[in-house]
Amino acid sequence: MRHKIIAGNWKMHKNAEQTEDLLNDLIDKLPPDVQVEIIVAPTFVNLASAVDHLEFTNIDVAAQNMHQAESGAFTGEISAEMLKSIGVNTVILGHSERRAYFHENDALLASKVNSALEHELRVIFCFGEELKDRQAKQHFSIVENQLHDGLFHLDAKDWGNIVLAYEPVWAIGTGETATPEQAQEMHAFIRETIRSKYGSDVAEGVTILYGGSVKPDNAKEIFSKPDVDGGLIGGAALNAADFAAIVSAV
Ligand code: 13P
Repeated sequence: MRHKIIAGNWKMHKNAEQTEDLLNDLIDKLPPDVQVEIIVAPTFVNLASAVDHLEFTNIDVAAQNMHQAESGAFTGEISAEMLKSIGVNTVILGHSERRAYFHENDALLASKVNSALEHELRVIFCFGEELKDRQAKQHFSIVENQLHDGLFHLDAKDWGNIVLAYEPVWAIGTGETATPEQAQEMHAFIRETIRSKYGSDVAEGVTILYGGSVKPDNAKEIFSKPDVDGGLIGGAALNAADFAAIVSAV
């Protein structure tokens, strides 16, 4: 069901010791008793230790990616079942860095989503337009196509395990965040697009996160918008005080 989430995508940062240090720092600094789900996504090699480390906390662990096949000759890859086997219950799919640098297209992502859901992994599905799309005023159609091609093959019942993360590519790691109005406008469009395909129950039930240069000083304004249910945080998730401030802002 729709609820507030703040998720930290650590990308390719933090070795084993640094992961432990940051987790300890987060446990110290995160506000207790918050009405928001908190998720961190360390690298693959540190997932199992993070799950152990966070066992008695209110912080969940997500993976940043997975392969779509059950198992097989796919050197270097990790399956949904493997993630489940170490206690990971959520996976980020479709991040713009996966799309851009690893050539993940919508058809591939649709098969990853299927595999994740078959293994009862919740999916944080990322999508968003590039700067050139926005400049050409095609951002709505790009986003609509990403939703259509990546997720609209699902049944309504599958949406209970889908969280959306709208991340305009031009705002990721650039320090240039979408304005709260731009975020709200797009989130409302996303919810409306889902409503027209699946109806109001699914549309009102889905959690839609915003990602792209969310920092302690801009978080509150972005999160105050009615269709923004939280954030997917990159750089600021690597600093416990900043991440805690963002959690407090939602
Ligand atoms: P930044 O917060 O560093 O812009 O990254 C956002 C992001 O890509 C989260 O997945």
